Amino acid sequence: MTEHIGIFVAWPYANGPLHVGHIAGAYLPPDIYARYHRMRGNKALMVSGSDSHGTPITVGAAQAGVPPRQFFEQWHETFLDSFKQLGISFDLFTHTDTRNHHQVAQDIFVALLENGYLYRETQQQLYSQTEDRFLPDRDVEGTCPHCGYEEARGDQCDNCGRLLDALELIDPRSKGDGSTPIARETEHYFLDLPAFSERLEQWIEGQEYWRTNVRHWALGMIREGLQGRPITRDLSWGIPVPLEDWGADKVLYVWFEAVIGYLSASVEWAKNQGEPDAWQAWWYDPSARGSYFVGKDNIPFHAVIWPAMLLGTEHLYTDDGSQQLNLPYDVPANEHLTLENQPMSTSRNWAVWLPDYLERYDPDPLRYYLTIAAPEGRDADFSWSEFVRRNNDELVATWGNLVNRVLNFAHSRFGAQVPARGEFSETDKDILNQVEAAFDTVGQLLDEAKFKAALTEALALAHAANRWLDDRAPWLLIKEDREAAATAVYVALSVVDSLKTLLYPFLPFTCQELNMYLGYDDDLKGELTIEAFEEDGVTHEALVYAPAEVSIDRWQPSQLPAGQALRKPEPLFKKLDTSVADEELERLEEQAAPA
Ligand code: MF3
Ligand code: ZN
Repeated sequence: MTEHIGIFVAWPYANGPLHVGHIAGAYLPPDIYARYHRMRGNKALMVSGSDSHGTPITVGAAQAGVPPRQFFEQWHETFLDSFKQLGISFDLFTHTDTRNHHQVAQDIFVALLENGYLYRETQQQLYSQTEDRFLPDRDVEGTCPHCGYEEARGDQCDNCGRLLDALELIDPRSKGDGSTPIARETEHYFLDLPAFSERLEQWIEGQEYWRTNVRHWALGMIREGLQGRPITRDLSWGIPVPLEDWGADKVLYVWFEAVIGYLSASVEWAKNQGEPDAWQAWWYDPSARGSYFVGKDNIPFHAVIWPAMLLGTEHLYTDDGSQQLNLPYDVPANEHLTLENQPMSTSRNWAVWLPDYLERYDPDPLRYYLTIAAPEGRDADFSWSEFVRRNNDELVATWGNLVNRVLNFAHSRFGAQVPARGEFSETDKDILNQVEAAFDTVGQLLDEAKFKAALTEALALAHAANRWLDDRAPWLLIKEDREAAATAVYVALSVVDSLKTLLYPFLPFTCQELNMYLGYDDDLKGELTIEAFEEDGVTHEALVYAPAEVSIDRWQPSQLPAGQALRKPEPLFKKLDTSVADEELERLEEQAAPA
């Protein structure tokens, strides 16, 4: 049965390059999940885009001395290149400054207002007298009232993860000029979160398969007591409040509108397909499953606030109020990745930046390492020496070596063809059975977003296959029994072919190459392209994915036909000299600013 699988990926602020922590946390896991589901013949829709609003953008633009639009567009372009090179197969990666997104965000605001979930209230906000402006969110820093961390931002504490109101900060200071702000009154719209408390709590209690940390965070937040949250800001950069008589100098709060991006990007994707209603299958059909791939800090927004907004939008785009937009099926949030045992930090420049990595190395080894050492369930560390070791021991010496040995032997001794097989030996049957069983176990783990465990299983199979091949030793057998050797090579090629499928979601580039060496002509990987789209004379660039056309379940053990012509193989992976780790460590230390 074909399923509709929504794959919703956190929208990165377009205010600087992405680093490996972002990739491990939020971008690689959904790609693995999407590629797996497409293999199964399911209808995957994976969308995201650049978060182009909010104080991260205005502060960055001011520092760079350029207008916000120019500032975010430049980083948006960098994201498109990086995701394309790393093979993150977004059906659409757009941004939040499109007409379409503005419209959908405003529609949701209006729906919530009409349904009675928004109210207007005067509140105190920090105001800078020297700069003559309100200081929302990240425009202000101070000490966290909960944990005492001295560099808490006005919207959230990076140390304890709690959402904050800037007024709660102890010793607040303006990010602009360091001055001490005063409290001043301003009027804002609030989302009535307490109105959803009970429904949210009941719903999350029922989501027993969620990762424990995510479920606990969300339930904890609800049980501490939800409060109304202001969803407008005194800023000029952002989405206008869609009211005639109020808020001319205000915009929608970035966190309120960015989460709406999951819906608006689905709508944009459908329009681009020429089927403007196509998004509804993922959003209205209750059997569709939508998962949100985000980092740990984003849990409150995806597990509590966005679901509340979804619950509050009855009657959106439909006259039939019974149609409820789907709540998240899962929020498989990851923990943090440290770098050489220190927290990754943009301000200290302690990070492996994606554009730098991609200039020097291939995508698959990074995809491999970030999955096998993923911060899934607990924090994890990226170290260059581990990267080199795993590349050499696991990709080159285990999986790559298996592939090389088998393909080269078939080339030199069986005329570059899949040989016809005779009778299987007991160990042949055993390895074939193990491989067949892995389609269930690895598939199940992938479906449950347990990527690290899934990859570990697949690699263990490559180990087992190497051992089997050493014992079976077709290079010796061929001297006395050509048919037995042919059977062994047939089995070995089948195992490699099956492992190609099992490893494809993790390693799409090299598995595509292998697919070609095995003599197939089909395209597993699909293509990412950067395209320009026009709305009312304004263009924006986006990344789009064109998968090979499939509606059949290709997640199946090999059915390699005897006689298929093999192509001349090249090694799939490059061995890295151990000096690479030292060089990279040196580079990191040179680039880092003093703590
Ligand atoms: N821009 C936010 C960040 O980088 C994430 C936004 S996720 C969204 O932390 F869903 F709100 F878009
Ligand atoms: Zn704190």
